Amino acid sequence: MALWGGRFSQVSDQRFKSFNDSLCFDYRLAEQDIISSLAWSRALVTVGVLSEYEQKQVEDALNIILEEVHTTPDAILTSAAEDIHSWVEQRLIEKVGDLGKKLHTGRSRNDQVATDLKLWCKAQVTELLSAIRKLQQALVLTAEANQDVVMPGYTHLQRAQPITFAHWNLAYYEMLSRDESRLMDTLTRLDVSPLGTGALAGTAYAIDRDRLAGWLGFAGATRNSLDSVSDRDHVIELISDAAIGMVHLSRFSEDLIFFNTGEAGFIELSDSVTSGSSLMPQKKNPDALELIRGKCGRVQGALTSIMMTLKGLPLAYNKDMQEDKEGLFDALDTWLDCLHIATLVLDGMQLKATICREAAQQGYANATELADYLVAKGIPFREAHHIVGKVVVEAIRIGLPLEAIPLVQLQAFSTVIDLDVYPVLALSSCLAQRHAKGGVAPEQIAQAILEAKQSLRSK
Ligand code: ARG
Repeated sequence: MALWGGRFSQVSDQRFKSFNDSLCFDYRLAEQDIISSLAWSRALVTVGVLSEYEQKQVEDALNIILEEVHTTPDAILTSAAEDIHSWVEQRLIEKVGDLGKKLHTGRSRNDQVATDLKLWCKAQVTELLSAIRKLQQALVLTAEANQDVVMPGYTHLQRAQPITFAHWNLAYYEMLSRDESRLMDTLTRLDVSPLGTGALAGTAYAIDRDRLAGWLGFAGATRNSLDSVSDRDHVIELISDAAIGMVHLSRFSEDLIFFNTGEAGFIELSDSVTSGSSLMPQKKNPDALELIRGKCGRVQGALTSIMMTLKGLPLAYNKDMQEDKEGLFDALDTWLDCLHIATLVLDGMQLKATICREAAQQGYANATELADYLVAKGIPFREAHHIVGKVVVEAIRIGLPLEAIPLVQLQAFSTVIDLDVYPVLALSSCLAQRHAKGGVAPEQIAQAILEAKQSLRSK
């Protein structure tokens, strides 16, 4: 039976009912709905709606329902209840009879769903933070193990300057640190309880909402009832956090897919995260990474979707808002899955240090070093840049890397060039030169690894 049958003389059309019902997805809020109902039953004691004895019966029954939800979760989905709030209430009435009908006093599904969803979000943020930290851990360990593996760094997907594989890992560590801080920031804003704001105008019972919020583990209670039941900023923020986090994971995947190509050959992905072709026996495809890159799209879609759903809504609650959940669930599930899979991929990956180094040696990635060398000899940078451009054209013509061009030939481009140019052109020197904070010099990398490890340990 619906919670609102009294005013109606006709039953719902079956097609409308399945269009309107949300149980098939909001069953995921079962635990939160029971916990918030339990807190509400305690609040009802403080205003004399339930006696201590009655509350105890309600509490015991709710605890049994919670147990049932954990042991036989499928039982919910076979019910004809409209949504999870109706389901929990019906189940309670089945267990304690008419007493169960008192629970909804002073409460609306509008403040209830807002509260349940925030509780769910809080739990999900904890999981996401832990998954982010696990991936960061894997990145730092990979960085630490590969501090001396030199590889080309790219701009425009053209070899630009040498970097180390450790530096590449630490770049993603930084992105994930920002993802983490965005989530924590979102958490501070969402950590206020809407429970006790009723349908839109507040509850008529003198409930201490701050105390009620505290029972539920919220930092405080919301201030304005109209805003409380219609606010879905936390949904937007969390999907935005996911959208940004997924962009990072997508770029991570794209980099590794490229590193894994036959053309680059810098890494080999583990058999356990790749798959074969049904036709071409030689293939080993980077499916895990491609799926992360692909799934990034649906999370961006969820962000557009929630923005469009909310943008025209008048205050306060409108049924449109029921559309907030599927996108949120899917976006956060997808993000969490992808964080786990990215960690798995990184843990099982093999790095081909020699190939990386050879690639770094090709492509004139040390041309900037030659320009800096000329600057050190008194030539203005713009002029030095021009000279080195000419040297590179000649190097390509004769098919040699810069460091293999004989001195006399180099001197034809600038007389300031001397034998001391060769150590400058060595890969190790290219790295060592970049020793300002954040650069690729070995001591900077070691420092970054140290700081990252300290930061992870403190969490
Ligand atoms: N199932 C609804 C939702 O997810 C909550 C119910 C509020 N319904 C209402 N008619 N006021 O948003």
